[in-house]
Amino acid sequence: MLFGATGDLARRKLLPGLFHLAKAGLLPQRYRIVGSAPAAEALSDEQFRAHAREAVAEFGRSSPEGPAWQEFEASLSFGAADTGATEPLVTAVREAERAVGGTPRRLFHLAVPPVAFTSVIELLGATGLAQDARVIVEKPFGTDLASARALNSAVQAVFDESRVFRIDHFLGKEAVDNILALRFANGLFEPLWNREHISHVQIDVPERIDIQGRAHFFEGTGTFRDMVVTHLFQLLGFVAMEPPVALEAQPLRDEQVKVFRSMRPLDPAHVVRGQYSGYRAEPGVDPASDTETFVALRVDIDNWRWAGVPFHLRSGKALAEGRHVVTLGLREPVLGMFPLDAREAADGRANELVIDFADPGSITARFLAKEPGPTMQLAEADMVFGYQSSFTTDYALEAYEHLILQAMLGDQSLFTRSDGIERLWEVAAPLLDAPPPVVPYDPGSWGPEAIASLVAPHRWHLPERH
Ligand code: BG6
Repeated sequence: MLFGATGDLARRKLLPGLFHLAKAGLLPQRYRIVGSAPAAEALSDEQFRAHAREAVAEFGRSSPEGPAWQEFEASLSFGAADTGATEPLVTAVREAERAVGGTPRRLFHLAVPPVAFTSVIELLGATGLAQDARVIVEKPFGTDLASARALNSAVQAVFDESRVFRIDHFLGKEAVDNILALRFANGLFEPLWNREHISHVQIDVPERIDIQGRAHFFEGTGTFRDMVVTHLFQLLGFVAMEPPVALEAQPLRDEQVKVFRSMRPLDPAHVVRGQYSGYRAEPGVDPASDTETFVALRVDIDNWRWAGVPFHLRSGKALAEGRHVVTLGLREPVLGMFPLDAREAADGRANELVIDFADPGSITARFLAKEPGPTMQLAEADMVFGYQSSFTTDYALEAYEHLILQAMLGDQSLFTRSDGIERLWEVAAPLLDAPPPVVPYDPGSWGPEAIASLVAPHRWHLPERH
């Protein structure tokens, strides 16, 4: 069941993703998909099918045609719902269940704006549809600690936590999940993965796109809530966690939450907020808006593994390049016995491990090698693993597809837990209470120059792509 079936996320990601799962044979043998939206946006079954066809044609990886499409299309139906007028929805769900037969499992996906969220949850409770069902909840999970708590208790009044799947699509990206494999399936990297060997970590998601007309959403949110409290902090959880006792939802999420608990509440003095010039002139934006379209910050993790190792996080809109990169900078060897030229040229970052988690993704180990020639001259060298050149699988799933599949299978490993979310809002609180003023920056630039002093003596640095 898809709430928000006429919305942007459903059109861009969810309907094309469901079709891709169907085509890959990853949906259950018998299934039905019921779309829903408020009565004002109600569609007939036929209209919903046409809507899905257009969405798949525009955003899907395969075109909506052939037997696979016909079968998928036949599974779609629509039931509008408003508080107090739930009959069309309940009827559509009952009919879909009759068509599936047996005792079908229900999965609700709430792709609705935050304001609609609680009323949909209550509606599912009141109609009895929530009974034995699972629910996928979209971000944002609140805007501060109080609202996150309120949201969590509204959800938990209707659904047991073991049935709640809070989506953060970064955790569904192949190359992000691979961080767990890289760290815990190999003897090569994990021994280095601590304060003894790593001097700093950079988590960087600059975006080239601007707010793309999403003023209404963005004005009330800003980059810190949109990208950092969600995606970047979740990613940090994977990079910084201790080895879980098993690769199962509970131990994995316990370790993630332990990282969040070790994160020092943010110091506004270690945060740079920026806003691209021209943002205030965007339609729907307050001409005096203080909303940030860029944020860079330092996170400290007060535990034995990471004490003293700064984690620098950055994200922003309308920047020079779009990237998804985690860089682990390694400490220098204890003694320098080589001519210093190359090391100096490498700007103190001669050794680093770079995880590029943009699709398809790569991992690069950067080190110094002897340049061929009569003298001992060092030069930077790379060892590169690239997904595309190493694997030729047809099964690659997009982040959303991967996560929807996991929710269908009932595996919560890649979904965020209520205590984790609430802790992250606690960490964020000092910044939300006293945000530094936004600094303007030029679209297409790398953001405010003030970030240089934020990371000193290190430097912001994005390795080249592989
Ligand atoms: C979304 C944010 O969650 O993630 C967007 O709301 C952002 O503002 C997007 O652009 C980035 O996702 P990705 O997968 O393209 O990096």
